[in-house]
Amino acid sequence: MLASTEIIEQLPRGFVFNTWYVAMWGSDLQEAKLVPKTILNEQIVFFRKEDGSVAAITDRCAHRFAPLSMGKLIPGDRIQCIYHGLEYSANGKCVKNPHAPCTIPEITNFKSYPVEEKYSLIWIWMGDEPADQSLIPDYSCLIDTPEMYVTRPGYLKVNANYQLVVDNLLDLSHTSYVHAGILGNAQTVDADIKVNQVGEVVSVSRPSINAETPGILQVMSPPGFEKGDQWSTISWYCPSNLILEFGVSKHGEPKEKGTGYFAIHLLTPESDRTTHYYYTAARWNVLTTGDDKNSAIRDKIYELRTFAFAEQDVPVIEAQQNTMDNAKYLLKPALLSIDGGPVRYQRILQNKITQELKK
Ligand code: FES
Ligand SMILES: [Fe+2]
Repeated sequence: MLASTEIIEQLPRGFVFNTWYVAMWGSDLQEAKLVPKTILNEQIVFFRKEDGSVAAITDRCAHRFAPLSMGKLIPGDRIQCIYHGLEYSANGKCVKNPHAPCTIPEITNFKSYPVEEKYSLIWIWMGDEPADQSLIPDYSCLIDTPEMYVTRPGYLKVNANYQLVVDNLLDLSHTSYVHAGILGNAQTVDADIKVNQVGEVVSVSRPSINAETPGILQVMSPPGFEKGDQWSTISWYCPSNLILEFGVSKHGEPKEKGTGYFAIHLLTPESDRTTHYYYTAARWNVLTTGDDKNSAIRDKIYELRTFAFAEQDVPVIEAQQNTMDNAKYLLKPALLSIDGGPVRYQRILQNKITQELKK
């Protein structure tokens, strides 16, 4: 077994803190509920204030460290600790000690986090620098697309480092093997992969010309699209949010006459070895008609994607993590032409992690 420092060298670890991560779907945070969530190894409790906005504070009482999420939300946007009743405000202060002489204790290592609710998601800023709302990546397709064409909010917990999941998503070539028949097929293996970088956004494109249409695109297409020109472009936003544009048109016809979806992949590190994976999809240029049909298509897309992630990707990624952790010597990956996207984003990510460490 490697010493832990060697494991860190094997795959550069670490997190960017001064950035936005998805904490949960907005629908996961009901009124009057305390929802605990670990993000970047920090235990946080989320709740809705009386005005409906979201608050996030350290999920640990300063007295004997009981999780505040076990406590009670009381009027005035306060949490009362379950154990001895200390009260905390939404801005991360201890505001009441019920025990005489009721002196408010000095508390350390306790904070409130900047939170934004946008695109039906709750975003959290984990760093100490001022939160910049303009840095939340654009997922407006989730609110601009009619509900009928957006799949239900998906969530999976992955027992692996978030970078292994980003590697998987930015590497479109795995679809021909891991997801043969559903998201890709053998005909797409030798497709011409292009990597593009604009600012800090890395995109990987992989077109297929006059190829058999993968199952999930057939599900959302009218008859006549069993074969066609397909395109997939996945874009990575630092540190770990992605969007894939995936579609098909009849051979030789422009993209605008085709159909497809935006596949949303939002990854939030829970710890060094676990990742929260939020996903959904929004169809564009819908060519199928009828509410019953489109609602069945919406459910089928969700089902197929959930199967692809949970039953196909995640087992490979978790096994990969396990293999790496148990290696007896330092591993260096053999690079292939398909690794251009992962190499590019890693460079940006590692640079950001290093910059923050230097501050
Ligand atoms: S542990 Fe919270 S008040 Fe004692
Ligand atoms: Fe995959």
